[in-house]
Amino acid sequence: MVRKGKVVLAYSGGLDTSVAIKWLAGKYNMDVIALTVDIGGVTDVPAIIKKAEKVGAVKAIAVDARETFINDYVFRALQADALYEGQYPLATALGRPLIAKLLVETAQKEGAAAVAHGSTGKGNDQVRFDVSIFALGPGLTIIAPAREWGMTREETIEYAHKHKIPVPVKVSKPYSIDENPWGRSIECGVLEDPWTEPPEDIYAWTKSPDKAPDKPEYIEIGFEKGIPVSLNGKKMDGMELVEKLNVLAGRNGIGRIDHLESRLVGIKSREIYESPAATVLLKAHLALEAMTLSRNQLRFKEKVAGEYADIIYNGLWFSFLRENLDAFIESSQRFVTGTVRAKLIKGNCVIVGRKSPTSLYSFKLATYDRGDIFDQRDSASFIRIYGLPVKIQSQAQVSTGPKQKKKTQK
Ligand code: ARG
Repeated sequence: MVRKGKVVLAYSGGLDTSVAIKWLAGKYNMDVIALTVDIGGVTDVPAIIKKAEKVGAVKAIAVDARETFINDYVFRALQADALYEGQYPLATALGRPLIAKLLVETAQKEGAAAVAHGSTGKGNDQVRFDVSIFALGPGLTIIAPAREWGMTREETIEYAHKHKIPVPVKVSKPYSIDENPWGRSIECGVLEDPWTEPPEDIYAWTKSPDKAPDKPEYIEIGFEKGIPVSLNGKKMDGMELVEKLNVLAGRNGIGRIDHLESRLVGIKSREIYESPAATVLLKAHLALEAMTLSRNQLRFKEKVAGEYADIIYNGLWFSFLRENLDAFIESSQRFVTGTVRAKLIKGNCVIVGRKSPTSLYSFKLATYDRGDIFDQRDSASFIRIYGLPVKIQSQAQVSTGPKQKKKTQK
């Protein structure tokens, strides 16, 4: 198929997207514009740009989207308490819609009719890219070279050698890694056997809990309306806070997650995550919500959290349902302000204190000591409120009970 014209490719600087530049230019005769989106953790942008041009891109662009990523994506997920299947803080899944958005915007700016991404046909990321691109730029053609070319890992490396594309030494390690400040995702190689313990060399951000310091490290996180705004009493912006916390929690062995997850394409896969900051912040945020939200708000919010995590995981970030839920979440966060104290010790983040100007905790009501203002005699009335349905149900059981249990007797 002859395509020609311009295509904007999401370019990480890694092997697959470098091969994709050559492949798009060779197979489809297209002018490839490489777009590198920095959502945090991209170390050498000039080198990536240089590489894109060397490999054959007609133009290479880099966008700094770090602040947007943390404030508009990560912290929304944090306010929602989103954890996919109760385990995965969704780092990779949160990055994709933002990259897709910038692909669409760049295509519009550059007058390109097509965009491309490096995802394979087996994972969730292809769906996240495709659906997000389709939602924001429905007229754009989407090309996913790695889904089309059908090359194995070895063949991709061979292709790179043939076309003089530098193959990083890291590629010799059989893992597929994706990272941004909300977490590091590691899969493939020995990890594909779900019975095998992950080898120590896959981890880059976390100390092994048994090698972590024996002395606990105490930290304090300040939240304003559900957003972390300070660490140990020092105000800082979101990205700085998350990056600092990755170091603090990581050196105490916190944030290793071994998740056998249900992919949206129907496959079960095993992924290892390192998410030190996310683990601590999600825990601390929940602790503050426990103090500042009513029981009914908490129960309902738990359901929203599950729904929200599924939306992110399944690539539906740019959906009306997500916006609807955001309205609820934003409203729920109005009073989630205060400070949480945590103790980091050998792989564990233990919440040891919380305080809030909007706390619903009342010492005078809770105490068993002097100063108690809760009149325990009032509690005798609960039998009238909660006891009634129980009474009706048990009466119904008594009347139908024997009938159901009756056996034919000789
Ligand atoms: N399983 C995770 C997700 O679907 C991460 C996917 C990318 N993982 C990777 N190692 N490249 O969001």
